Order: sequence, then structure tokens, then C-alpha cells
Amino acid sequence: MARLKVGVLISGRGTNLQALIDACALSSFPAEISLVVSNVPGALGLERAQASGIATEIVNHKDFDDRASFETKLSGILEAASVSFVCLAGFMRILTPTFVNHWYDRLINIHPSLLPAFPGLNTHQRAIDAGVRFGGCTVHYVRPEMDNGPIIVQAAVAILPDDDADQLATRVLEAEHICFPHALRLIAENRTRVRGDVVEIAGANPAQSVLINPTP
Ligand code: GRF
Repeated sequence: MARLKVGVLISGRGTNLQALIDACALSSFPAEISLVVSNVPGALGLERAQASGIATEIVNHKDFDDRASFETKLSGILEAASVSFVCLAGFMRILTPTFVNHWYDRLINIHPSLLPAFPGLNTHQRAIDAGVRFGGCTVHYVRPEMDNGPIIVQAAVAILPDDDADQLATRVLEAEHICFPHALRLIAENRTRVRGDVVEIAGANPAQSVLINPTP
């Protein structure tokens, strides 16, 4: 079966991009990365892509008068590279409804919290301050409202008594690197169906246990 042609949008260091690159390096993986686009020149993720022989483009939002022209350029570049599906991997620009609707159900994002809790920035500190027992990450289809949309995969990561935001972020990031390729595989294998707010997954493997923190 033909592999799903994916474009990845980044703004920074690109460790999630790297997880996708590593997954796509396996010939059995049902997707391939056709193009990596950064809105930030010099983003470390660009070097990761180039090191793997993946085409890169820089579309610097500062070069555009408005969001509409920036996004028109983004979509044009992606389509010129025959991309049919887009992953946001630490892409730090808000996307307008026009872009989101153009790529509707063909656009996913990874966010470092258990959505719908803690959308937006500074999630780990906010989770610690709220006293919740689990942080985590979410891969979801993108909808116009930020960090919102039908959830594909989540990982729960226990928050430990002495955690600071950096320590929690490090453990959540490890989970992100598993969840993002996992979600992309489910999609590329055509196993996801979006029904309203809910994603149904054919042949899903449910998580096996209840997690209690602290453990009784
Ligand atoms: C990740 O924590 C991701 O969840 C968030 O931005 C961060 C990007 O990190 N959206 P990286 O560039 O993938 O290392």
C-alpha cells in the first residue's frame, strides 16, 4: 500500500519530528515525511530533517503582512510537495480557521498535557500548581480553537512529589515520542474515524490497567 505523504511543521528543536523521522525510517511504517517546514530560520529541527535527507523549507511568518498570506504560502508549499497530511510538531504559530478547515481531519498536533486540561503554554508548571496527580500528552486532530480537537492517543505520566516543571517535561517528552508515531500509524493504516468529537479506532488496544498515584 502507498505510504501516506506527510508534511511536518516545526518551530524549534524538533525532538518529536525526530521521533517521526525514526518511525518513518522503518520500511514497514505506513507514512513517509515528504517535507519539513519551519517558520523559524535556524530551528534545530531543520538540521534533523536534513541529516535524514528530508526536504526542508523555511516560511518565516515575519516575511508576511498577515496570517492569511503566511498560511497560503504554507499550504502551497505543502501541496507542491504532494503532502496529503500535516503534523504539527512544536509549531508555535496559531493557525486560522481557514488553514485548519483546508486541512480538516488531515492535520494533527501534539500537546504536552492531558487535554482538555491545561491547553496553552506552561502546561507542566500549571499541572504541578493545580496539584493533579497525572500529567501527560495528547495527540489530537486540530480544530480552530487552540489545543482542541478529537483525541487520537493520550499518555498519562505520574507527577512525583518533588517534580519541577523541567523534570516532568522530560518524562512527558519521552511519552510524546511514543504517542506521536503511534497516532500517525493508526491514521496511516486508515484505522481512525472521526465521529463528532470522538475518534473511533479500529482494533484499538486499550490500556490495560487503572493507574493510581500515589499507589495504594
Ligand atoms: C513538545 O512538548 C510538544 O508537545 C509541544 O511543543 C514541544 C515541541 O518539542 N507542542 P520538540 O520541538 O518536538 O522537541
